[in-house]
Amino acid sequence: SLTAVGCGTKPSATTTDKPAAEVAPIVVKFSHVVTADTPKGKAADKFKELLEQKTAGKMKVEVYPSSQLYGDKEELEQAQAGNVQIIAPSITKLVGLNPKIQYVDLPFLFPDNKAVYKFWESEANKKLMNSFDKFSLKGLAMWPNGFKQFTDNKRPLLTPEDFKGLKFRTQAGKVLEAQFKGLGAGSATIAFGETYAALQQGTVDGQENTFNNIDTQKYQEVQKYLSVTNHGRLDYIVLINNTFFNGLTPDLQKAVLESMAEATKFEIEQAELLDKASLENLKKGGKMQITELTPEQLGVFQKLMEPIYAEFESMISKEVIDAAKNASK
Ligand code: LMR
Repeated sequence: SLTAVGCGTKPSATTTDKPAAEVAPIVVKFSHVVTADTPKGKAADKFKELLEQKTAGKMKVEVYPSSQLYGDKEELEQAQAGNVQIIAPSITKLVGLNPKIQYVDLPFLFPDNKAVYKFWESEANKKLMNSFDKFSLKGLAMWPNGFKQFTDNKRPLLTPEDFKGLKFRTQAGKVLEAQFKGLGAGSATIAFGETYAALQQGTVDGQENTFNNIDTQKYQEVQKYLSVTNHGRLDYIVLINNTFFNGLTPDLQKAVLESMAEATKFEIEQAELLDKASLENLKKGGKMQITELTPEQLGVFQKLMEPIYAEFESMISKEVIDAAKNASK
C-alpha cells in the first residue's frame, strides 16, 4: 500500500538534486507604471534582454508594465521590502524619502535636455542618488522622459487666469502643490494608474505630463486642451534593492551594471525620439486643441512662479538648486 512507501523516513532526493543555479535562475522583478511602448517600458525590456544574454540565463528578468504588479505607492514600498527588485519611479515620487529631489519640479529650471543630463553628472545629483541607500535602495541610473505640458478639459490654458478654479492631478509633493496654488488652481495627488479615470470622471479638470505619457495614456480621449509650456521635467531614477544587489556574485553585479548602462543609452535615445513622435501623434489625432505658448506668454508664467524658488530653497537646498542652474548655463 501507499502508506508503506518510505516507512516514515523522508524520501531520498540525492539522485535528483542539482546545484541551484542550474535549475532556478535568479529572478529580477522590474515593476513600472507606464505602458511597454514608452521610453521607460522599452528600456526595461531592453535591460531584460541584455541581462539574460550576459548571464546566459542565470538571471531572469520579469518586467511588469502599466501598474500590473504595483502602483506608485506600492512599488516604492515593495522595492524597499525586496518583493520587487527594480523600479524606475518618476523622481518626484521619492519625495517622502528625500524632499530635496523636488528640484525636478521647480518651474522652468532646465531650458533643454542637455542641461538636465549635465545636472545628472553633478556631485549634487550623485549625492541625491546615494541618499536612498538608507532606504535599502541603490540608485543605478537616471532615465529621462521629457518636459511636462499642461492639459485640461475646460478651456485653453494660455494665461495664469485660465487656471483659476480648476483642479489638477499631481504626481506628489509640495512643490507641485505650490505651483498650482500660485496659479489659483487646486490640486490632488493621484496615482498614475488612476489618473485616466479621474480625468474622465471629472474628479480633476486637468493634469501635467510629457507628450509621451499623454499620448500613451490616451489622455486625448478625456482632455480637450494641451498647452505646450515645457514648464517642468519628468524623469526617472532607476533603483535596485540593496540587499538583493549586494547578495549577487561580483560577476552578476557586473552584468547588472553593464546591462543597465546599455539600457540607459537606449532609453535616452527613445525618450528623445518618442517625445517628438508623440507630439506628432497627438497633432495627427486631431482630438486635442494644441497651443504652443509664445515666449511672451511663457514669461508671464515664469515670473508668477518665481517665488517658488525662495519658498523651497531650504527644503531642496541651495547646493542642489545651484548645481541645476549651473548645468543650464
Ligand atoms: C506620472 O505619474 O505622471 C508619471 O510619473 C508616470 C511615469 O512613470 O512616467
